[in-house]
Amino acid sequence: MDALQKRSSSRQFANTALPSQMLSDLLWAAFGVNRPDGGRTAPSALNAQEVDVYVAMPSGAYRYDATTHTLHLVAASDLRHVTGYQDFVDDAPMDLVYVADPERMALMPAEQRVFFAAASAGAIAQNVYLFSASNGLSTVIRAWLDRKAIAAALGLNPDHQVLLSQTVGFPSDNSKA
Ligand SMILES: Cc1cc2nc3c(=O)[nH]c(=O)nc-3n(C[C@H](O)[C@H](O)[C@H](O)COP(=O)(O)O)c2cc1C
Repeated sequence: MDALQKRSSSRQFANTALPSQMLSDLLWAAFGVNRPDGGRTAPSALNAQEVDVYVAMPSGAYRYDATTHTLHLVAASDLRHVTGYQDFVDDAPMDLVYVADPERMALMPAEQRVFFAAASAGAIAQNVYLFSASNGLSTVIRAWLDRKAIAAALGLNPDHQVLLSQTVGFPSDNSKA
């Protein structure tokens, strides 16, 4: 109830890195494995688990591998500024990017795939909102982004689809005032 009470979007972030344990917990909350059978913290149609979570940080961009709970480097440069048009994305410590892999949705009608993947990404985003609310973090989900630029920067396969981005960080002093 507390987390839901505090859930909100915020667009003012301190330029402070998340402690590594908090980053680890956040990614697990977002879309980690929470059951022995490989089930995840967010639902997906037919359990296709088609959404990949990417993380853009000053040190580089990474894909979150939920099975091993590890980050895999995909670009060794700071891509935060590529993840959206709003100024705060450049300086907040991390921007998540949710990407759909249609290959994992082969059993679904082609015209439904983006719709289903976006619904799953929405559930992941809400996990991040609730984790943020319960850990004193600010966050905002974003659809105002250049999907082609993000796909190129992350080196995505042409059929992969960038769905949404989400900025996370500690609140700035301004936003606490
Ligand atoms: C699909 C979707 C796309 C959104 N895109 C943006 C965005 O590009 N930039 C932004 O600042 N906020 C974005 N938002 C956040 C909304 O503006 C915000 O959720 C809304 O104003 C309600 O505020 P609240 O989240 O604090 O309740 C988006 C929200 C959703 C659900």
